[in-house]
Amino acid sequence: MINQQLYQNIYKRKSVRRYDMTPLHESVLMDVKAFAESAVPLIDDIKYEFTYLSAGDVKNLLPIKAPHYICLYSEAKPNYLMNAGYLLQQIDLYLSHKALGSCWLGVAKPSKQVALQQNGLDFVIMLAFGAPNEPVHREKPDDFRRKMTHEISNVSGHDALVEAVRLAPSASNSQPWFVSETPEGLILSREKLNILRGALYGKMNQIDIGIALLHLDMAVRHHGRQAIYSFSPQNAPGGIPLGYEFMVRVETKAIDE
Ligand SMILES: Cc1cc2nc3c(=O)[nH]c(=O)nc-3n(C[C@H](O)[C@H](O)[C@H](O)COP(=O)(O)O)c2cc1C
Repeated sequence: MINQQLYQNIYKRKSVRRYDMTPLHESVLMDVKAFAESAVPLIDDIKYEFTYLSAGDVKNLLPIKAPHYICLYSEAKPNYLMNAGYLLQQIDLYLSHKALGSCWLGVAKPSKQVALQQNGLDFVIMLAFGAPNEPVHREKPDDFRRKMTHEISNVSGHDALVEAVRLAPSASNSQPWFVSETPEGLILSREKLNILRGALYGKMNQIDIGIALLHLDMAVRHHGRQAIYSFSPQNAPGGIPLGYEFMVRVETKAIDE
């Protein structure tokens, strides 16, 4: 089960882009690695691995330098990008919980001397992390630059679940999610992109949906229920607004049912 202490961090986390370049103490790094090993995947049969890099091993066009980077390598099976977002967001929240800084890096790649494939798995994305050189938390939800609730949802009666989705981080803060309601459960859909934006953000915004889903999952648990997922669009009659496409249907049930 995902550590529920992390739930509070949904409401105060932020991207940290300035770091103390001193490497973290070995015991702190070991603790982060142990947490990463305990992260819960969204989809059980997708193989993945984490690897760790330091600043010299990363190529990044933007000037974000951190002492550490965690990279996710994965099998490229259906929904692997959502799975990647769901997994690494647990680590983003854990780092925030430990008052360490982190930032998703969609444009950074391992440098030439580091393989883009490992044990048959492809590099997907990385998070920068380390001791922060700027505040690591936001004070209140108003400090988040996000769309309004009515822009991302037409659901009533699930305010806490929608709010957890609303505050999720996304590539270029694009917030490509929409939460709708059907008799069969909540639907999380993703904004359709034109060819140009699709080339730039098509992969990233599937990762974004995985991040939002992790937040939704944690909010469901926090309110004493558990989420069950269906990735098949046939199970989502209606409920998807124009310009969006189905990603996942979420039903909730009592925890020990
Ligand atoms: C998949 C993904 C890729 C991202 N890539 C970058 C990046 O390459 N560089 C960067 O500075 N921020 C990156 N971000 C961070 C977003 O810009 C940030 O999450 C968003 O603006 C919201 O701000 P917040 O995280 O402080 O709440 C990325 C975020 C996500 C989820």
